Amino acid sequence: MNVADSEVVVSILSDAGYSQTENIGDAGLILINTCSIRENAEQRIWGRLKALSHLKNRKNNVKIGIIGCMAERLKEKLIETDKLVDIVVGPDAYRELPSLIAESEAGHKAVNVLLSREETYADISPVRMDKNGVSSFVSIMRGCNNMCAYCVVPYVRGAERSRNPESVLKEVKELCNMGYMEVTLLGQNVDSYKWNNGSEVTGFSQLLEKVAMVNPLLRIRFSTSHPKDISDELLYTIARHGNICKHIHLPAQSGSSRILKLMNREYSREGYMDRVNAIRNIIPECAISTDMITGFCTETKEDHEESLALMEWAGFDFAYMFKYSERPGTRAARKYKDDVSEEIKSERLSEMISLQNRLSLKSKKNDVGKVFEVLIEGASKRSDQYLSGRTTQNKVVVFPGFGLKTGEYVNVMIERCTSATLLGKKF
Ligand code: 5AD
Ligand code: SF4
Repeated sequence: MNVADSEVVVSILSDAGYSQTENIGDAGLILINTCSIRENAEQRIWGRLKALSHLKNRKNNVKIGIIGCMAERLKEKLIETDKLVDIVVGPDAYRELPSLIAESEAGHKAVNVLLSREETYADISPVRMDKNGVSSFVSIMRGCNNMCAYCVVPYVRGAERSRNPESVLKEVKELCNMGYMEVTLLGQNVDSYKWNNGSEVTGFSQLLEKVAMVNPLLRIRFSTSHPKDISDELLYTIARHGNICKHIHLPAQSGSSRILKLMNREYSREGYMDRVNAIRNIIPECAISTDMITGFCTETKEDHEESLALMEWAGFDFAYMFKYSERPGTRAARKYKDDVSEEIKSERLSEMISLQNRLSLKSKKNDVGKVFEVLIEGASKRSDQYLSGRTTQNKVVVFPGFGLKTGEYVNVMIERCTSATLLGKKF
């Protein structure tokens, strides 16, 4: 999400005559795109700001801006409490950046954190910042209307709004013409994508289908799905198109219906299991990944065990796992006590991580001996003799790269695996 936002910001600033530099010492303006989702994300930004203070001392005219969610959350406080910061711009005010930079240069406070009901930056062609030229992100909506009790997103990114499907298709076609082979459609809850042009309503299934039909060689991914909204119609669309990747990121957050209710997730453990069963029935080869939170308010040992049991039952191929981090202003912060100790949160998190490592390994072992179509993304991290790419299920595959090129599809026979990577050779 933040990469996609940074690409919009670079585009706005390029149009205003700015250019990017790879060397921070040469920069006249440094913008830090921020995330507020957990406290440690914000802590890292404070660390980053501290590290920049020497630069500011040396080069007094360098301007430092905080953009994105943390700007939205902390607003003027950022300029007042941290003299390093000159510019503060929330996620719906990026178009104002050139004038805010000018204000700051004239010695004024430059803050704009107004949230919008309409802004989707639909007309802006993002300047691609990825390094491989193979896979890219396209934002299809902004904000979120769900009110998960722990989550700061609705407060810092505003209400949900979908982007005109024509502008999404135009961007995807441009990427295709530039040689990209994979796009990931992004939204906080893609299943609630909706565009009404007066005569026709486009939901996410229809949008996905239109995007898939741009070019059968272009791989399509999407994130994030919500268990309460993911429909059978969408699953049939995924099953129907070879180029829609067979991987769904479906955050469960917890396996306890009681905790899910407190989290205001609007589904129960059984509701989540029903959606996993639907995926397994309609798209048998589909990989499923998830997000889990440990130590949410009042979580007992039994609740935690229900989370572990759900993970085991679902056999997730991959998971992002987090300790609950109270975010000021959220419903959980206002109404519930953050009453699970740090020590227990950490214990439960490590238990969960070990379980997922075992599940990830099992999922990979299941692929050994099979052949997968892999889209090559570049040299492997360890050696440039080897290439790395992903299967449709989003599993990383490393294989000897002789004679093969980034951006090509290749069939790879899987010979070995670790819990993170499949290893094989061209078939
Ligand atoms: N504490 C811990 N994890 C959180 N997430 C969102 N808010 C919080 C929080 N306050 C996690 C959820 C979400 C992912 C993007 O971040 O699992 O799906
Ligand atoms: Fe946050 Fe819930 Fe919206 Fe996801 S769906 S961004 S967790 S409020």
